Amino acid sequence: MNFYDTEKILALLEKHGYSPVKSPEEADFVAVNTCSVRQHAEDRAVAFLSSHQYLRKQGKFLCMLGCTANLYGEKLLQKYPFIDIVCGAGNYERLPELLRNRKRKVWVTGDSTHPFIDIPVANSGNVSAFVTVTKGCENFCSYCVVPFTRGKLKSKSPETIYEEIKKLVEQGVKEIVLLGQNVNEYGNDTGIRFTEILEKIASFEGILRLWFLTSHPKDMPDELMASFKNMPKLYKHLHLPLQSGSDRMLKLMNRKYTVERYLEIIEKVRTAVPDISITSDIITGFPSESEDDFWKTVSVIKEVKFDDLFVFKYSERPGTSASMMNDDVPLTEKERRHKTILDIQEAISIERNRRFTGKTDSVFVLKKSRKKREGFFIGRSSSNKSVLFESFGSHPGTLEKVVFTSADRHYLYGYSCEEDKKQRLLLQEQE
Ligand code: 5AD
Ligand code: SF4
Repeated sequence: MNFYDTEKILALLEKHGYSPVKSPEEADFVAVNTCSVRQHAEDRAVAFLSSHQYLRKQGKFLCMLGCTANLYGEKLLQKYPFIDIVCGAGNYERLPELLRNRKRKVWVTGDSTHPFIDIPVANSGNVSAFVTVTKGCENFCSYCVVPFTRGKLKSKSPETIYEEIKKLVEQGVKEIVLLGQNVNEYGNDTGIRFTEILEKIASFEGILRLWFLTSHPKDMPDELMASFKNMPKLYKHLHLPLQSGSDRMLKLMNRKYTVERYLEIIEKVRTAVPDISITSDIITGFPSESEDDFWKTVSVIKEVKFDDLFVFKYSERPGTSASMMNDDVPLTEKERRHKTILDIQEAISIERNRRFTGKTDSVFVLKKSRKKREGFFIGRSSSNKSVLFESFGSHPGTLEKVVFTSADRHYLYGYSCEEDKKQRLLLQEQE
């Protein structure tokens, strides 16, 4: 989401006559677009600006943008005297005006009725692009700061989404990643169904691949699950954050589903689409998480066998209801649980990736591999696995038939079937 916002901010500023430079030293304005979902992200943003404060003596301005800006507003200016301009996510339309005025110690934050920047992003040359479909969230998971930083749920209108995608298609984009804190709630404020949007985008001729994240287990409609089967352009991949495998924790986290319901969804999608890949998010060391709660999570992880997991140590966020709870799980314990899960998942991910060895699949070609020598490409399999494959004639933005020969934690490895054909012809000629 932040990456997408940054692209949009760049497009907005370019429209107002600014242009990006290669280093902070060359800039008039140095801005960080911050995430505040965990303390660590916030600390890194502040540290970056702090380490560049010497530039202010040269008349330059330091700006804090994004969620952290929204979360603390004016207080950032008091706490960090080296910050000049604070502009929250959702208020970027005001950013050109803030820069033009060249005033120090100004801020604009808070909820906005117009949080989307409607200006098309510059042509990145990539064949894949993000498109945000919703902003904000009203679920108030007890640990999460997003409802406070991004405000109420707002859905982008279908027309705006289609226009944005049409422009991206003109730039050569062939894969769209739809983003939202919980895409399943798309249209709750406007009455439009998310699957309607998916179907329409899939009907665009220029689009070859489509995916979306994130989905909340509390609202996973059957018709969305059916899309994985019915929509060939949609990656067979569901990112469905579990957070914890203990019902007690889920209740404290205000997640509004039980482990039983979560497992029901998994069974349903896997029955409909057996080779679907399922990824998830887990938080370790949430307040009062006992050893027993933790092992319940491990047990669900072993039972589901996720394709991949994003594991986070609980980080207390200001204003959230969890921040009122007693954070009684020591950091060392959070870290131990974090590492235990990562180790268990490593083996599961390898096993999940190896199930494709020997199979052939239609791979979306993303780019040439930079690490490998000429003739290697990076792509995504139809269940959204990263693929590194050998081929001399592939083009980014096309689909290529690939045979998988091996796999590790992060990649499926293989070669293009076309390549195989070429090699055989070559051998025949030599014979
Ligand atoms: N501490 C740790 N992890 C968090 N996440 C969100 N808020 C917190 C927090 N306060 C994680 C959740 C979410 C992912 C995007 O970040 O797992 O799904
Ligand atoms: Fe945060 Fe929960 Fe909303 Fe996700 S659904 S953004 S975790 S409040």
